[in-house]
Amino acid sequence: MRKKITIVGAGNVGTTTAQLIAEKNLADIILIDIVEGIPQGKALDIQEACPLWGSSCRITGTNDYEETAGSDVVVITAGLARKPGMSRDDLLHANAKIVRGVAESVGRTSPDAVIIVVTNPMDVMAQLTQAVTGIPHKRIIGMGGVLDSARMRSFIAMETGIPPRDVQTMVLGGHGDQMVPMPRFTKVEGREIGKLLSEDKIRAIISRTKNGGAEIVGLLKTGSAYYAPSASVVEMIETMFGHKDELLPCSVYLDGEYGIKGVYLGVPVQLSGEGIEKIIELELADEEKGALNASAEAVRKLVATIGI
Ligand code: NAI
Ligand code: 2OP
Repeated sequence: MRKKITIVGAGNVGTTTAQLIAEKNLADIILIDIVEGIPQGKALDIQEACPLWGSSCRITGTNDYEETAGSDVVVITAGLARKPGMSRDDLLHANAKIVRGVAESVGRTSPDAVIIVVTNPMDVMAQLTQAVTGIPHKRIIGMGGVLDSARMRSFIAMETGIPPRDVQTMVLGGHGDQMVPMPRFTKVEGREIGKLLSEDKIRAIISRTKNGGAEIVGLLKTGSAYYAPSASVVEMIETMFGHKDELLPCSVYLDGEYGIKGVYLGVPVQLSGEGIEKIIELELADEEKGALNASAEAVRKLVATIGI
């Protein structure tokens, strides 16, 4: 039977994600938004592109959660995006209100789904979605690390001239200003990055990675990135469906792994159709552990302010 993916929020990330899923013929799609007409119009437009892509996906736009019932995967992108000068954390209270309502509806209509949370501040919104739905932690996953790692790979590829497919890296921690890029786990054509780039160059790449979202917001002036974020969501879905076999950094609930408990944070995981199959514990140096703990504390503080 064809898989059913619901995308909540027919804005930039939601519709670009729908487009990529349809182009790749991965699943039938339900696009839902509070604004009437937008999800219906976008869905029809994508549907009309399917013959040209050779895709047999069915795409439905709606404002009614009953049409989303029984989804295998739900992607939550509903909410406000950043404007220049705003951090992801500045979105906290407005987006918490939106995500709370979305989670109540999704938990009722698709209690067996794996939920991918995108809305910022994402790690906090993942924790909120779990608290509201009561769905097991292993089926609620935040997207952030895949995007941050793709950005870091791009910057390394741009600096070295080596194709990004030959660059592996990991960005762990929360998807916020305290994310933790991992140069020690970065390989370029199988070689350590320090063998190719100077310390100054590596520092600049780390800083650009941490600032990657703000760099795009600054250029766009209205709204935030969506091509790479949508591709990152689809990478997670393809891995869940078994089309790819990758370890991906995702925001998951830590229950003692990495010495951290009771908070969503980005770490490498194996995904399956059931959600998190396994959390991979890398051997971290003291400095890396310190940075991951600081990132966890930053998420924890935000979680406390919305009283989950
Ligand atoms: P957008 O403004 O283009 O789209 C948001 C959509 O959500 C709009 O269509 C709006 O009508 C809809 N919406 C608002 N309230 C809703 C509700 N209660 N139910 C259903 N739909 C609702 O924003 P964009 O660019 O798509 O970003 C969406 C969110 O994703 C933002 O919070 C942004 O910060 C976040 N984001 C997170 C990333 C990550 O790596 N985790 C990457 C990129 C964006
Ligand atoms: C980004 O990193 C806005 O979180 C989003 O582009």
